[in-house]
Formats: sequence, C-alpha cells, structure tokens
Amino acid sequence: MRHLLHLHDLSRNALENLLDAAQALRPQALGRNAKASLHGVTVANLFFEPSTRTRTSFQLAAQRLGADVINFEAESSSTRKGETLVDTLRNIEAMGASLFVVRHTHSSVPAALAAAAAAGSGVVSAGDGRHSHPTQGLLDMLTIRQHKGEDFSRLSVAIVGDIRHSRVARSDAQALRTLGLRDLRLAAPDTLLPDADEACFAGATVASSLDAALQNCDVVMMLRLQRERMDEGLVSSLEEYYRDWGLSPERLAQAKPDAIVLHPGPMNRGVEIADAVADGPQSVILEQVSNGVAVRMAVLEALHRNHSG
Ligand code: CP
Repeated sequence: MRHLLHLHDLSRNALENLLDAAQALRPQALGRNAKASLHGVTVANLFFEPSTRTRTSFQLAAQRLGADVINFEAESSSTRKGETLVDTLRNIEAMGASLFVVRHTHSSVPAALAAAAAAGSGVVSAGDGRHSHPTQGLLDMLTIRQHKGEDFSRLSVAIVGDIRHSRVARSDAQALRTLGLRDLRLAAPDTLLPDADEACFAGATVASSLDAALQNCDVVMMLRLQRERMDEGLVSSLEEYYRDWGLSPERLAQAKPDAIVLHPGPMNRGVEIADAVADGPQSVILEQVSNGVAVRMAVLEALHRNHSG
C-alpha cells in the first residue's frame, strides 16, 4: 500500500490489519503514551473542500505520532493564481513533506496527485467527490467491530439517505463486503439512490421504505442530505424528507434493541436524524470521531512503513 485512495482493492487481511493497528493505537489516539514513529516525517494536509473531523483528526494523528504537520490553506495559496495541484504537491515535497492527505471536490484528484508524487511520497484520499472516503470507511468498520464483533457475515446493515452523492456510502459498502457482510440494505428516495449497476453496491437490497430497511437491523448508517444539491430538485422539501426518511426514535425501535446508529457528520439535525437519536443511547457518532484519530494514525504509519521499509 503506497497510497490509500479507495478501499475496493484492499484484501480482507490488509483491511483487518489496519483495523487491528488502529485498535491498538486507541490510547495514543486519545493523547496518552505519546509515540514517535513518525518523528522527522512531514505530513501535508491539502484540503480543497471544507472539513472539520477529517482534517482535524489527520492533524492530531500525525502530531500524536511525532510528525510535523503542514495545514495547507487552499484559499490563500498560489492555486488562486493558477498554480496547478501537481506543482503545489511538488513544491511542498521539495520542502521535505512525504505524506499527503488530499480532499477535493473532484473525484480522482488524489489519484492524479499519487501518480505525480515522488517515489518516496504517499497520498491518502480524505474524500474526493462522490468517489471515495477510505479512512471514513475504515473508522466506520472499527466502530461496528467494537460493538458487534468481527463476524460481519451475521449482521444486517442499513445505509440510509443521500447515497447517490455519498463517498462515505461507497467506501462503507466496499469495506462491508470485504469483511463478509451479506445483508446490506439501501434506503433512499429514488432520486438519491445510486445507479443500479454501481459495482460497490453489488448484492445490496434496495428497501421499499425506511421502515422496511430498519426491520431487525443491527447497524443503521445515516447519511447527510447534501443540501448543496437541493437546487437540483432531488427532494421536494426538508419536511417531507424527514417524514419519509428521517430517523426518529419511533422508527429506530423497528431495528434490533441493541442496534447502533452511525453518522459520518456533519449532521442535519431534524432533517435526516432526530436530536433524540443523534444524542441517544444507541448513537455511536462521537465514538466514530474518536476512532477517526486512531484509524488515521494506523494509515499514516502503514504508508510511512511501506515507503521507508
Ligand atoms: N465525516 C467527514 O468527512 O466530516 P468532515 O467533512 O467534517 O471532515
């Protein structure tokens, strides 16, 4: 693994090794027992799209491994004067950075930068377009594993909401299948479902309603309604969306009593999820955030090891 751009070509063994490494790094991820495995390494966060969780947790992950961190500010950078993304990467490489964390609106930008990077550099996608958000997929799997154990084949998982535009849903579906999940249910209005032939959702069932998707479910993965797409007229109104697809406590009661609820954030409270669910006893949303630091530490360590080994 020289770069981490998506999850579809990670073997089950490689994926589980990353989850094991992240689990072992939990104490350091929470700020205890500092580690210095990346001492002398420079990590550059290149975010061309807004982020709270991913950017902050990559920064903390790098720092808690002893690395130096550059938080590149796209808005005040020379990309505003026309400098290309590849030239930007090469200039930051020339200052000694060797691990690049890239978020961009356009799918495939992390892959293009990986292709242009020096042999000793690693690139991690921090989310590109609708394509992929691999570390979110990994942290979601770690969170499920902590609550439901390592045998994913006996679980039922529902992914609910704006699946069409969601890179998180794509990375989650890929990882769930790799880990052996057999019962993946997709629940969304027709306008927000993925294309029927998308490989990453192969084998999933499209539920006729949210109620149908939730029946005896073990894991409910809610997605953000990407309101920046609302002018495309994909949803008639936020009120109707909540009525038909919002997760309320009454609806959640159709899942198993010990079902867990995930959401990658940022949440639209009262649109895709009720406050009482987001902040309720079945929510593991903040555990996902904590796991994000550990997962990103494991990924940065693995990439550095593969480049220096
Ligand atoms: N889950 C996620 O990617 O959140 P941010 O956009 O805040 O990074």
